[in-house]
Amino acid sequence: MTGFSADWLRLREPFDHRARATAAGALDLRGRLARWRGRAPDKALAVVDLACGHGANLRELAPGLGGAQRWRLFDHDPALLAAVPQTLSHWALRHGYRFTLDGTAGGLPAICIAGPDFHVEAVCHRVDLARDLATLDFSDTPLVTASALLDLVSASWLQTLVRKSQAARAALLFSLTVDGRTMWDPADRDDERVHGLFSQHQRRDKGFGPALGPEAAATALHQMAGAGYETVQVQTDWIIDGAQAQAMQLAMVEGMAAAALEQSPAEQGAVLAWQARRRAGIGSCRLRVGHVDIAATPGW
Ligand SMILES: C[S@@+](CC[C@H](N)C(=O)[O-])C[C@H]1O[C@@H](n2cnc3c(N)ncnc32)[C@H](O)[C@@H]1O
Repeated sequence: MTGFSADWLRLREPFDHRARATAAGALDLRGRLARWRGRAPDKALAVVDLACGHGANLRELAPGLGGAQRWRLFDHDPALLAAVPQTLSHWALRHGYRFTLDGTAGGLPAICIAGPDFHVEAVCHRVDLARDLATLDFSDTPLVTASALLDLVSASWLQTLVRKSQAARAALLFSLTVDGRTMWDPADRDDERVHGLFSQHQRRDKGFGPALGPEAAATALHQMAGAGYETVQVQTDWIIDGAQAQAMQLAMVEGMAAAALEQSPAEQGAVLAWQARRRAGIGSCRLRVGHVDIAATPGW
């Protein structure tokens, strides 16, 4: 089982946001969200967010979705779920939205956020998605979404999710799936070696069976097309450079080196030397990490 700390999610969120904002035009996100909303015009739009972490996907999508929205947020990590109300309230405050933690919805606290042209009610659920995906109810849910999840899951888990969504006629939006492209500028003689080990490590079981890692986006597109979805994909790469990016660059160097060492202890010398050179270059290099966003609309 992998752990994702709130600190890591906070560190990556500005890079996620920039990547998604840059790609929103190519994805026609506004138009697409409006069309998906149009499938249930009279009701609050029901949205499922899988592996929600501390709620970044809701923060990214809710203002663009507009109107009344009813979100169900699922994750297995109690610490991340406990952080959702505070994270959302800080976000709401920053943007001048009204935030309330309201009574209960089915025994769970409901978070309400009102912006100028949207109103969200969100409820968090603790669920092990690897084990309990089948128990989730997607009926009357026009949109199923997740960010930074697909590379963690297995092909068979993803197939179950696609079929379940197809049965519910839900549109799908999967953001920030890593696709294996990693580019440093300037390059280092051992980048390829470390990236190769890192990619192999990404394919280890993260609790869902053998992880798709860099194959996730291609597998998702294939499975969605097989289920009759009309799909579009857009690159949402992290661009990690400039003075604000040093902590993120360091986190990437440390994460890649740790994974590479675990994957191939015999290559310790080369990996540690790469890590030392990359640490020395923090702040004076540029890193691009490839991601893909996929939107899938029921085509039947
Ligand atoms: C990379 S984080 C992405 C979080 C969030 N969607 C975001 O974009 O910031 C992956 C998330 O998957 C969750 N996760 C991993 N395995 C899970 C499982 N078996 N069941 C539910 N959530 C899981 C983690 O707790 C974490 O919140």
